[in-house]
Amino acid sequence: MSAPRLTRLPQWQALQRHADAIGQRHLREWFAADPRRGERFALEEVGLYLDYSKQRVDDDALRLLRELATARGLLQRIEAMFRGERINTTEQRAVLHVALRAPAAEKILLDGHDVVADVQAVLERMAAFTERVHSGAWRGHDGRRIRHVVSIGIGGSDLGPVMAYEALRAYSRREMTFHFVSNVDGTDFAEAVRELDAAETLFIVCSKTFTTLETLANARAARAWCVEALGDEAAVAKHFVAVSTNADEVAKFGIDTANMFGFWDWVGGRYSMDSAIGLSTMLAIGAEHFRAMLAGFHAMDEHFRHAPFERNLPVLMGLLAVWNNNFLGAASVAVLPYEQYLKRFPAYLQQLTMESNGKRVTLDGAAVDYATGPIYWGEPGTNGQHSFYQLLHQGTRLVPCDFIGFGQSLNPLDQQHDLLLANLIAQGEALAFGKTVEEVRAAGTDAALAPHRTFPGNRPSSTILAQRLTPHVLGSLIALYEHSVFVQGVIWDIDSFDQWGVELGKQLAKTTIAELTAKDEPPLAHDSSTNALIRRYRQLRDTA
Ligand code: F6P
Repeated sequence: MSAPRLTRLPQWQALQRHADAIGQRHLREWFAADPRRGERFALEEVGLYLDYSKQRVDDDALRLLRELATARGLLQRIEAMFRGERINTTEQRAVLHVALRAPAAEKILLDGHDVVADVQAVLERMAAFTERVHSGAWRGHDGRRIRHVVSIGIGGSDLGPVMAYEALRAYSRREMTFHFVSNVDGTDFAEAVRELDAAETLFIVCSKTFTTLETLANARAARAWCVEALGDEAAVAKHFVAVSTNADEVAKFGIDTANMFGFWDWVGGRYSMDSAIGLSTMLAIGAEHFRAMLAGFHAMDEHFRHAPFERNLPVLMGLLAVWNNNFLGAASVAVLPYEQYLKRFPAYLQQLTMESNGKRVTLDGAAVDYATGPIYWGEPGTNGQHSFYQLLHQGTRLVPCDFIGFGQSLNPLDQQHDLLLANLIAQGEALAFGKTVEEVRAAGTDAALAPHRTFPGNRPSSTILAQRLTPHVLGSLIALYEHSVFVQGVIWDIDSFDQWGVELGKQLAKTTIAELTAKDEPPLAHDSSTNALIRRYRQLRDTA
């Protein structure tokens, strides 16, 4: 049954009227009218403190957003996901990443089969393998210990592992080095292995489908590099393992499926970092920390499933994102972690959010008449402050910000953590309250310069604080964003779990590869620009 058209819902229209009435009201007024706003519009759950008081909402807006969620059947959709219904309708798949972190005692049935038992079996194999590598029981072809791990994958088979490795580096085994190769650009592979000794290097080839062009090209390059360095085809057995859902293709590539760690079609690529795709994470931080990360994910899953909407972090974040996107017209979101270890978090979130919600038709295929997924981007603070924050403060666009920070540094250095967090807190304050022209003039600025030194303020932000970046906290933080993305998708009535939009470019590239690699220029039947680019590339490449 198709959902009623979003913009015709009375709840949507009520929100529209409310936005017209309050949309331009300044955060200065909101805070002046309610001295407790900063505490009232804040939540602490699962070890995460969310301050959303600097979002441009009032109690009525929040209530109306929750009513919209109810009208959209959010509660039922959450349950449908957790129960393993095939909510990824365009691919006819269940969406069960929550099973990846369910406790061993839980049962989640898919077509009568308990998937938690499968997950636990793979986790145990991963842990046993990790232990063998760490203890030296698993050795390279010439008997030396593994000291370097190179994970090869792309998209969901890369961004999560890289992000998690960077995020949890403080917990990692420093006697080993970890590298990630994703781009089909040969430079990525060449630079990753330049300093490595093949005899001590383990490659993990990560690909859900095991048909992805970039990953297979890099995996072939890795195999050639390894075999050449070690002088023996048989070396592949000790230097390559695979993570995939496709045992046939893994075997075809030449990796023994005994050295393959599986996952399932009900795990979307961008929701897979806590599956076997996270093998590099486990090798880096050990099985115990990996389990702690899964427990953090699970704690947020439980919260999302059971907490009432008023106290539900992912629901609230998702609804605020809808408000900013659809009622305040904000086309992008900046994610600003004030934690160097989270430097790859914005890049990871880009796939999670934009591959999930960058859709233009509803579940039943009708074109939407409202904006869907915003553009996510960001950099760690304070670097961003000396780069793009100018636009955040004084540009003409509205860019809601998510600030993320921690009470304790993993590398305390004199007062530097206070300095870091002072900046985080000050940025939210500056964005919200700005500086009026009167304040600027009162500070003695001359009239001509005053407009340049004025900050309009009223720029919304949320701040997420936790005590310390631990594996558990990281899991909860990621699950928070995962579920917030789902909430937005439910409101927009789109399939947050398919990714048809990546197909066309892939298909066209196949034709183009043939045209670029043909010995003589083949007849070209593209548009004039594409034809000219193909010719120009061939000429640039082939001219001595
Ligand atoms: O870019 C499209 C995509 O299908 C992503 O969704 C996925 O994470 C990535 O390619 C990699 O796919 P695979 O894990 O099958 O190699």
